This record gives sequence, C-alpha cells and structure tokens, in this order.
Amino acid sequence: MVVDTTVEEAMNLLFPDSSPGEAMFNMALQPLVTTLDLADIETVGHTCNVAMMAVYTVEEMFPHFSDERKDAVRIGAFFHDYGKIFQPDIYKGSRKIGPDERHLFHNHVIYGREVFEGFRSHWSIHGVGDIDPRIPYVIEMIANHHQRPDGGGYPAWSIGKSGIYLRYESESEAGTSDKRRALKGDEIVPEALVIKLCDTYDALRRHRGYKPAFPHNKSVEMMYYDKRDGVSGEQNFGKDLFEFFLKNHREFKRIYDSNPSDL
Ligand SMILES: [Fe+2]
Ligand SMILES: [Fe+2]
Repeated sequence: MVVDTTVEEAMNLLFPDSSPGEAMFNMALQPLVTTLDLADIETVGHTCNVAMMAVYTVEEMFPHFSDERKDAVRIGAFFHDYGKIFQPDIYKGSRKIGPDERHLFHNHVIYGREVFEGFRSHWSIHGVGDIDPRIPYVIEMIANHHQRPDGGGYPAWSIGKSGIYLRYESESEAGTSDKRRALKGDEIVPEALVIKLCDTYDALRRHRGYKPAFPHNKSVEMMYYDKRDGVSGEQNFGKDLFEFFLKNHREFKRIYDSNPSDL
C-alpha cells in the first residue's frame, strides 16, 4: 500500500519555525498546502521530496546565500507546480492533449507565479511594511523552474501591455518571441535550476499515469541524456549543478527512500 505524506507532515517540514514572528507567514501559506493536497495533481509526498532535495543541494552548493534566500528554497520547491491545480483536466488526464496543445502545459508556471505575486500586492496595498524577503525568490523559482541555462525550456515571462501575465491560449501565442523571452545563464536564479533537477529526479522515481516508476540507476541514466528533448544533463541543468548531482546522487536516493510514500 502506498502511504503518502500527509498535510500535517508537510506543514511540519515546511514551517519548522513556529515562533510568533513566523505565525503570519505560516498562516498565509497553510491553506495553499491544503489546496495542493485536495487538488490531488502532484502529491504532497513529491513536493516534500523536491523541497528536501533542493534544500540539501542549495546548502551544499551555495553556503554563502543569505538565510532568507536559503529559507525561501523549501517554499519555492514545495510550491513549484502549484499552478497545475488550475488545469485539472490536462494534469488528471480527463481530456486528451493533442500535439498542437502542448503549450497548455506551459501555463502552470504563469498561474503559480500569479498566486505568489498576490502576496506582493497585499503588502503594498495595505502598507504593512516591506514584503517578506523570501517571496521575491519564491516567485523567481516558480516562474523559472522549466528553463534551461542555454535559453531553452519555457519561462513565465509573458507580460501584456497592462502588466498582467498572459496565459497562452494558442500555439502561435506561446511561440511569439516578443511575448516570451526566455532567460539565459545567470539571468535564471540557480535555485530554479536546482528545483528543476530535484523535480526531474523525483518524478522519474515515481509511478505516474503516463509512466512507470524507474529505479535509481535508470533515473540517473535518463537524466544524463534526456531522449525526449534531445538534451544532455549538462544542458538541462547547467554544468556545475549536474556534476554536483552525479557526485552526490546517492544522497538524492537516500532522501527519496526516506519518504513514507515508498513504503
Ligand atoms: Fe513544473
Ligand atoms: Fe513536480
């Protein structure tokens, strides 16, 4: 029987600091955890795993990051695919997606970004002080976790004249370069690529409607060269990050194996 991580376990992992100073921040995010669980599109077990792997990677690779920036990683990683809850028909497979509709999958980064942009506007409208310093990082991570350092992949940069983030309604819109400018290299916060790597590994290990669960070694091999997109691990995640993964892949396995969803 598969036992998946509960919302309570996720809350303990996500919000370990229960001090009064953190209460407002935690209270604001708690309903999002429950919503993610109820939507039942990506399991809380998967998102917790991505958070644990991403925190580990950032601690090891970027020890010089500020405390706020490091702390933002577990939140950005946990909510990386939050935007999927707004497209249940395509993610739950209740409707077949044709080859000319692949662009619809790109929208989840924009929906997720919009939700977290809401935190920014609340702070400025009500003048309750500066925005929590973690939120801008969280937004960057959610918006850019499907980009490649070489400018491939897809971004959440589709801004209309009104300043509203546009969702793609058609393939031609998704491909219009003046509406979509992919970021490259250093323009992408490294945490976004870390999340992409952890997300890819954990998703390969799990059974999903469209694929079986792959064993650890096979998953690492598949990340070495992504046959579907025709890109190497280095192209997909960046040289330094992919080298870190190859050197420490057993730690990723250990984190995956420690999740109760694998019992
Ligand atoms: Fe995603
Ligand atoms: Fe994911």
